Amino acid sequence: MQKIAVMTSGGDVPGLNACIRAVVRTAIFNQLKIVGIQHGFEGLIAGDFVPLHAQSVSNIIQLGGTMLKSSRSELFRTKEGRLLAYEKIKKENIDAIVLIGGDGSFAGVNAFIQEYADIPFIGIPKTIDNDIAGTDVCIGYDTALNTAMEAIDKIRDTAESHERIFLVEVMGRDSGYIAYGAGLASGAESILIPETKADIENLENILKKGWNRKKASLIIVVAEGDENGGAYKTAEMVKKYMPTHYVGICILGHIQRGGSPSAADRILASRFGYTSVIALLEGKKNIMVGIQKNELCFTPFEEVKKQHLQINQSTLNMLNALTS
Ligand code: F6P
Repeated sequence: MQKIAVMTSGGDVPGLNACIRAVVRTAIFNQLKIVGIQHGFEGLIAGDFVPLHAQSVSNIIQLGGTMLKSSRSELFRTKEGRLLAYEKIKKENIDAIVLIGGDGSFAGVNAFIQEYADIPFIGIPKTIDNDIAGTDVCIGYDTALNTAMEAIDKIRDTAESHERIFLVEVMGRDSGYIAYGAGLASGAESILIPETKADIENLENILKKGWNRKKASLIIVVAEGDENGGAYKTAEMVKKYMPTHYVGICILGHIQRGGSPSAADRILASRFGYTSVIALLEGKKNIMVGIQKNELCFTPFEEVKKQHLQINQSTLNMLNALTS
């Protein structure tokens, strides 16, 4: 193996640049040439490559976004798109690829390696939703969680001063990880997530109980993918339960995807980036790097799927105790 490539695919997260830096530095340290594939799979199909050197990744560990740009590619889902990608890889003499992506990107690459078996891939999991099986934590989750928590703390100041109710909608299309973590960390009165179907039934009781015991503010954290709809729909229900109260809505949106990565994300990204190149040098292929019970591990792409937050009875008991 002489030349490898690194790319980012899917939604951006804080920590991508730290991960690219680790991949590039580890490759160069081991006498490998390295190129960046720009604009995700769209760039791969177009042959959009950039040579990378140790200096190319200086002073980026602290930056959000991705220096390589990213995309969600429909074309790579087609056989024609994958053939174009393969032709560009061969033309550029790339021997292996480190793919920093999510479960959708890994599914795409799994289709690719069934058709073109001679290009080894190593995957690195990143998503603020933290919902990828094969790892306890993905790059970006810790920073997004802290961003959401800090925003809720700020909203609490206004809610408390003006004795208001606020619904804060956090990201998580199918996943309650951010809502659960940020809600717990900010002392929210209620947390609504897609994984628990019955949480809305309790909402009226929680709100009335809180107000009756003279709480000055009530915060409900709602995952955007909650089965009852997001913050706007939930606010309609809350207004029915508490018709005389001010009910504010705050959608945090893409603020959660940006910003300087936390120390935990920089460290995770560095460990994953380093491990991915070492894995290639050891002859490993078509697996995703992960971390489980604080140990690095590998999962074949065909086993990588969405992982849902598990809320068991003892977690529910804890939430009931802490919000009462
Ligand atoms: O998967 C990460 C995520 O941020 C989700 O939480 C969110 O629903 C989605 O991406 C938004 O995607 P886009 O930036 O393409 O609108």
